[in-house]
Amino acid sequence: MNARIQRVGVVGGGQMGAGIAEICARAGLDTVVCEADATAARAARERVAASLERAVQRGKFDRMTAEDALARLVFTGSLDDLADRQLVIEAAIENTDAKTEIFAALDKIVEDPEAILATNTSSIPVMRLGMATHRADRVLGLHFFNPVPVLPLVEVVPSLHTAPETVTAIEEFAHNALGKTTIQSRDRAGFVVNALLIPYLLSAIRMAESGFATAADVDAGMELGCAHPMGPLKLADLIGLDTVASIAESLYEEFKEPLYAPPPLLQRMVEAGLLGRKTGRGFHTYD
Ligand code: CAA
Repeated sequence: MNARIQRVGVVGGGQMGAGIAEICARAGLDTVVCEADATAARAARERVAASLERAVQRGKFDRMTAEDALARLVFTGSLDDLADRQLVIEAAIENTDAKTEIFAALDKIVEDPEAILATNTSSIPVMRLGMATHRADRVLGLHFFNPVPVLPLVEVVPSLHTAPETVTAIEEFAHNALGKTTIQSRDRAGFVVNALLIPYLLSAIRMAESGFATAADVDAGMELGCAHPMGPLKLADLIGLDTVASIAESLYEEFKEPLYAPPPLLQRMVEAGLLGRKTGRGFHTYD
């Protein structure tokens, strides 16, 4: 079993990868973030810096803590820089081929045979990614929630091949190093949270699509009527409509239930590049 995990790699520096990297660095871990190229790596660094700055402004911790965390992070454009990692968390695009390729590459690159390879996928079978390696017993799902520095939950998802020691090691890491609460889920599309959340978001999209209620009223209904921190269409915009659509497609492919079928409006918005907060426009507009 692993020595205590100190050296972490994160593949992908988008909103999830940047958030994961931020909390690892704040936990004092030596953290390397790998993006597709140097430009994307710079953008990832800026994402982490902006999030740390927001937390400083909100009085969560002081500037020195934020600067220390940033100094602990290395951003790279090459997976080869993850060779000496004890844990790699993959948080790249939600696409089976892309993730499979990354796992096959990590299997060759990461030297320690005891290292754990985790995926932040929300809906792709963990088994499929494990089978892209020769160490499926060391591969599992570790699914964070957006915004990662704020939400306390992580879903731990063993595949049929994941060793019990891998699960124990990652649960200890999530609790003790990152201060997160874990729940376990079987390796089924959506795990626990998205299997419940996505049909709700899709229902809200269908409501707006049919003219049943405006986007603003759908959101106000759930914020003010059910005390949700944000309504479903604002939440879909936060997650990213492309991500919502791809999770819905995976759920639909797995269960063939109409409640998981992505509504046409969602698909048209994705085709139009209206992806929510990250593009400035989704169901709402953003500065
Ligand atoms: N580190 C630590 N704390 C931070 C932080 C950081 N980098 N950035 C912000 N915070 C803190 C803030 O200080 C603030 O704390 P206080 O309330 O104690 O002051 C809190 O986090 C929220 O701060 P913000 O100013 O950023 O934002 P807000 O108050 O407007 O809340 C929100 C925004 C956190 C997004 C809230 O609306 C919310 O929780 N929404 C629901 C989000 C949700 O449901 N996410 C799950 C999505 S599903 C998913 O992710 C899974 C998937 O696979 C799709």
